[in-house]
Amino acid sequence: MRCTLFAASPRAGGNSDRALDEFAQGVREAGGDCNALYLRKHRILPCVSCGVCEQTQGGPCPLAEKDDSAPLFDALLSSDFVFFASPIYFYHLPAHFKAFIDRGQRYYEAALANRSEMLALPSRRAAACLVAGRKKGERLFEGAALTLSFFLEPFRIRLEPQMGLRGIDASGDLASNPTDCAFIRETGYRLALQELSGKNGSSTMS
Ligand SMILES: Cc1cc2nc3c(=O)[nH]c(=O)nc-3n(C[C@H](O)[C@H](O)[C@H](O)COP(=O)(O)O)c2cc1C
Repeated sequence: MRCTLFAASPRAGGNSDRALDEFAQGVREAGGDCNALYLRKHRILPCVSCGVCEQTQGGPCPLAEKDDSAPLFDALLSSDFVFFASPIYFYHLPAHFKAFIDRGQRYYEAALANRSEMLALPSRRAAACLVAGRKKGERLFEGAALTLSFFLEPFRIRLEPQMGLRGIDASGDLASNPTDCAFIRETGYRLALQELSGKNGSSTMS
């Protein structure tokens, strides 16, 4: 079971990086393989709405030759399971992560055109851990979760479950919260076990 973990924070060694480490530990303890990708280490050019992917029904993006987004999309296409760890920035995902998501437009067009490589993708699952500094805000994770699920849809990946952690702000806040760390680790363990045993039915968490 190959799990790709996407770290989406511009801040190295912060809370969502820690969430990724905990989740990865859980997956490994269950017997899964993990590969962590740090978006901040990848040059990702923003979509400029040139229309090429629409005209070619999901053909290659002209920007893909100029940046480092290709291995990120390759990982989405080939992984058995995907995990995202991201901070909330202004009720949403950080800009660099959103740039990656917008570049997914090429795959949206490819799926719309029923390209064979998209139709051949197996149905898969993703989980996410979103960390936010604020303790309040009923809809704190809503925008990020909606965007993530629609981004993943063309890849035949459904997002569930999500962990939304509040009141985690300074860089070491999550690390000093053993309960949250254990929760993330145990979630990774449980989901990996489900994947390995083929029992990957729906479940929800918040
Ligand atoms: C530009 C920016 C915008 C932020 N916007 C929000 C926000 O809208 N709501 C919130 O609860 N926290 C917000 N935060 C706080 C971060 O979500 C919080 O510090 C988080 O723990 C950072 O995770 P990281 O250490 O993985 O980068 C913001 C932080 C920054 C730097």
